[in-house]
Amino acid sequence: MLNSLQKKWKVNGAQLVLILCTFAVTGTLTAFISRGITSWLGFDETTSLIWKILVRILVLVFGYQVIILIVSFFFGQFRFFWNYEKKILKRMGFINNTKEVVTPYRLAIFASGKGSNAEKIIQYFDKEPLIHVKLIVCNKAGAGVLDIANAWKINTLLIEKKAFTESDEYIEYLKNEGITHIILAGFLWKIPQNLIKAYPNKILNIHPALLPNFGGKGMYGEKVHQSVIAAGEKESGITIHLVDEHYDHGKTIFQVKTEITSADSPDTLAEKIHILEHEHYPKVIEEWLGVE
Ligand code: GRF
Repeated sequence: MLNSLQKKWKVNGAQLVLILCTFAVTGTLTAFISRGITSWLGFDETTSLIWKILVRILVLVFGYQVIILIVSFFFGQFRFFWNYEKKILKRMGFINNTKEVVTPYRLAIFASGKGSNAEKIIQYFDKEPLIHVKLIVCNKAGAGVLDIANAWKINTLLIEKKAFTESDEYIEYLKNEGITHIILAGFLWKIPQNLIKAYPNKILNIHPALLPNFGGKGMYGEKVHQSVIAAGEKESGITIHLVDEHYDHGKTIFQVKTEITSADSPDTLAEKIHILEHEHYPKVIEEWLGVE
């Protein structure tokens, strides 16, 4: 039962406990307040039953909704309960059901590989009301990232080189979809001028090494880690940077390092780097967007 609640509400175990505590405290508090109100109104055995029922209903229906928000705040669950309230208000017809609530930050992830970073980002923002991944743009049919998009029911756009470099059509599509920011996560083509112009300082890339070293054209995947090891480096890391018209070049907004030991191979280094990417990329995106 607890497991199914966790799945239904998409929360972890600790959050579930806090949510259940919120319900329990709210229930007790509402009963207490309701009793206080009836005695303040001077209700006694002579008061008509209809009045008593009416006041109780008012407290339960309206008072409860306010009390639960206050209590949830103390349990750190305000966001969860505010979304829960909005659903109730919709059901009661107080909020227009047909009007789509527009998420202010609508991300498109451009990826052409396995998509492990894309998945971490999608997962991280899944319950975030302000930021959402709305589109996956991919240039390789059959890429793993397309299965991930499918599993998360996210729209995909498969793009060909000519359409990407020589036309504006897909940019119009991005704008029509309300895409506000672009996240590159293993997308190997150079970003054309017209896309940079359409999204100035709104395109972010992750590179699996410490730029400005080991970046540039052709420096991707295995090749990066092979070059780092071959150069005898003692550390590598990840770089998250804004995208400009050159490969791996825009302003760096985040770097973190990892040590390279004599036992490391390009494969083990790749694993270390992926762990760092998965841990930091979603958080850096959140900070970059100014939503915490
Ligand atoms: C990552 O290592 C990233 O740094 C690079 O491409 C790789 C994508 O990996 N730009 P995945 O497809 O997210 O697993």
